[in-house]
Amino acid sequence: MTIEHVTVIGAGVMGGGIAAQIANAGIPVLLLDVVPEGAGNRNTVAEQAVARMAKADPAPFMSKRAVKRVTAGNIEDHLDQAAASDWIVEAVVERPDVKQALYKKIDAVRKKGSIVSSNTSTLPRAKLVEGMPQSFAADFLITHFFNPPRYMRLLEVVSGAENAAETVAAFEDFADRRLGKGVVEAHDTPGFIANRIGTFWIQCAIVEAIDRGLSIEEADACLGRPLGIPKTGVFALMDLVGIDLMPYVDQSLAGALPADDAYMKIRREVPLIGKMIADGYTGRKGKGGFYRLNTEGGGRVKEAIDLASGAYAPAAKPSLESLRAARRGGAKALVSHADKGGQYAWAVMSKTLAYAASLVPEIANDVDAVDQAMRLGYNWKKGPFELIDAIGPADMAARLAEDGAAVPAFLKTAAKAEGFYRTGEGRRQMLTLDGGYEDIVRPEGVTLLADIKLAAKPVARNGSDSLWDVGDGVACFEIHTKLNSIDQEVMSLLRKSVGIVAKDFKALVIYNEGSHFSAGANIGLALFAANTAMWPMIEDLVAQGQKIYADLKRAPFPVVAAPSGLALGGGCEILLHSDAVQAHAESYIGLVETGIGLVPAWGGCKEMLTRLAADPKRPHGPMAPVAQAFQTIGLADVAKSAFEAQEKGFLKATDGVTFNRDRLLADAKAKALDMVEGYAPPEPVEIALPGPAGKAAIGLALDEFRAKGLLTPHDETVADVLGDVLTGGPGADHTEPMDEDAVLKLERAAFMRLVRTEPTLARMEHTLETGKPLRN
Ligand code: NAI
Repeated sequence: MTIEHVTVIGAGVMGGGIAAQIANAGIPVLLLDVVPEGAGNRNTVAEQAVARMAKADPAPFMSKRAVKRVTAGNIEDHLDQAAASDWIVEAVVERPDVKQALYKKIDAVRKKGSIVSSNTSTLPRAKLVEGMPQSFAADFLITHFFNPPRYMRLLEVVSGAENAAETVAAFEDFADRRLGKGVVEAHDTPGFIANRIGTFWIQCAIVEAIDRGLSIEEADACLGRPLGIPKTGVFALMDLVGIDLMPYVDQSLAGALPADDAYMKIRREVPLIGKMIADGYTGRKGKGGFYRLNTEGGGRVKEAIDLASGAYAPAAKPSLESLRAARRGGAKALVSHADKGGQYAWAVMSKTLAYAASLVPEIANDVDAVDQAMRLGYNWKKGPFELIDAIGPADMAARLAEDGAAVPAFLKTAAKAEGFYRTGEGRRQMLTLDGGYEDIVRPEGVTLLADIKLAAKPVARNGSDSLWDVGDGVACFEIHTKLNSIDQEVMSLLRKSVGIVAKDFKALVIYNEGSHFSAGANIGLALFAANTAMWPMIEDLVAQGQKIYADLKRAPFPVVAAPSGLALGGGCEILLHSDAVQAHAESYIGLVETGIGLVPAWGGCKEMLTRLAADPKRPHGPMAPVAQAFQTIGLADVAKSAFEAQEKGFLKATDGVTFNRDRLLADAKAKALDMVEGYAPPEPVEIALPGPAGKAAIGLALDEFRAKGLLTPHDETVADVLGDVLTGGPGADHTEPMDEDAVLKLERAAFMRLVRTEPTLARMEHTLETGKPLRN
């Protein structure tokens, strides 16, 4: 089965987002919705959905080209076109009668063997196929995406006895490779996996916070970061997804669960929430939620609701001993602490984790499926079973018993064994129900550095980075600093690694499994050096970086960089100096130095100029690459996907894009190995730069920004200095091309000029403290 055309029915929040992600993957999509009564334009609902998504931020589409792959239509006039589709996704309102009526119509037009799936979040598969022919049921799945479909990695797939194993496997492979989803097989039970546990956790957190008299700030602080859960915790999370969804999710789950389910015992109606919804306090989309921004009197005060009185007061930073203990001791220290934060965290997490332990194998085949679902669907760093291991299964079982709570049999098994996970013979293994351990088998084409680390020691290492042998003659350079920022240690091991790889390996991949490839140079370090006027040290750091990146480029072996998340500044410059890039689709790439009052000076200006000039698809002439580089670097423009990065010239058209994060290393490795035979490093190039004439042209282009008042005084200075670098300086002339070193020298001089200015230092300091740019 290959999926080359898809129809999505229902152009709402989910259908729209699913259609966009399919289009992102390069696949044409037909998006259908109803014809509103009396509409002049019968396609208006789906058309408006596409138009809205094309402007939305965060963007559902990865590129403008993807938008064009979606054809909007309506269910009355265009359903027959679904006959062209290999997959038809239904994402209409959550009503079984509406869905079933639609399936009859779909079955009449669809091509034989096409997959039909529902995005339902609560309806059982068995109910949806009731009364449908066997041939339909055999091709029918539940494909439960999470909102927003581009960014949430989880896809729960529910199949039934009628489905052939090959059908399910082929679809899952498609969703994994092409759509980049973390596919988790869920059983046909209420709420499937993630929402079953997630809803329990949320209900429990709210009820316990009320009963124990915690403020919502305290509750969120306890249930967020210390547990590896996003800092939104529970209440801010509700504000984000919409408080009005809560009663709906609760009732649908409660309606489907047996009376003796633990969820039925902890759920309780919360009058405050009903009142908030009725008054329009539905969260960020409404007048506010548990938190709100009070802008009365021109201020911007973050306020939090009092769970007892329903009154808002300025939000306060929680001060709890348990939170301080958790900073050192993590989840275990938090739940073991005797203060109210620790007791609250224990009450919520012990119940939630015990609930999860009681649900295997009812809702999922194994603990890994449950953990994956919570990691990818709720962005937890650790899933429930990994959290139990962090707390200690035996301690947890004992304390549950002390509390007089039921201890799930599976938890007792884990307490007697080595926990839910262990490393056995260098492999990650999980506990099975009978008390044995089984290898966690990754799908073919998935290589994780985390797995490699279980069985091997690094080839070289210091506090900031490591070099690993990832097999078949390929080495992997891994940065592991905070935000994977680049410091002297990174530089020093990179230099050493070039030597090691030349001697002992065939190729190098630059990759890590952090959230971000690299946020750029460590500006804290640079700022410290500048504040103490260690100018020679700064200049040396710049020169060293240029030299090491150049060595990387000229190394006698292929270098493939594999970014995911942010690749900014010096991180972006690594990509620019690699022979090829294999980028995760969710890569955010940019040269952002001007934002902190600097210019790229590890070869970033030089590389942008040469690659823009060498691209046959771009405008030619001495000024075209300069103008484009000036715009991209001057505006500190960040591409919001790998495809946008190709459009902006950070990546080449020949660079690869991987949708599934877990496949990035294997894909990068394959790309590097492909280049080994007959590899020769790129020859140095000469760069024709326009000199003063070009600088004058840039000045004119800036007038437009000036007229609109968009340039601050320091923007003017930075633009002027950047203009000098990109046009080659006062002595340049496009008839006399410069060599690469000459441009590097200009970069260095420009950097040193700017780093000595007060406004640049103020920008660096501000960004370091707030993470935001300073407009001075
Ligand atoms: P929505 O209300 O935003 O969109 C539903 C769309 O379906 C509307 O545009 C409506 O006009 C259209 N529609 C209704 N009947 C139709 C028909 N017979 N033919 C064609 N179009 C029709 O709803 P949303 O949130 O996108 O939910 C869709 C499905 O996804 C539901 O089954 C829901 O349970 C599920 N879901 C929702 C999630 C969420 O966070 N909103 C998350 C995961 C699943």
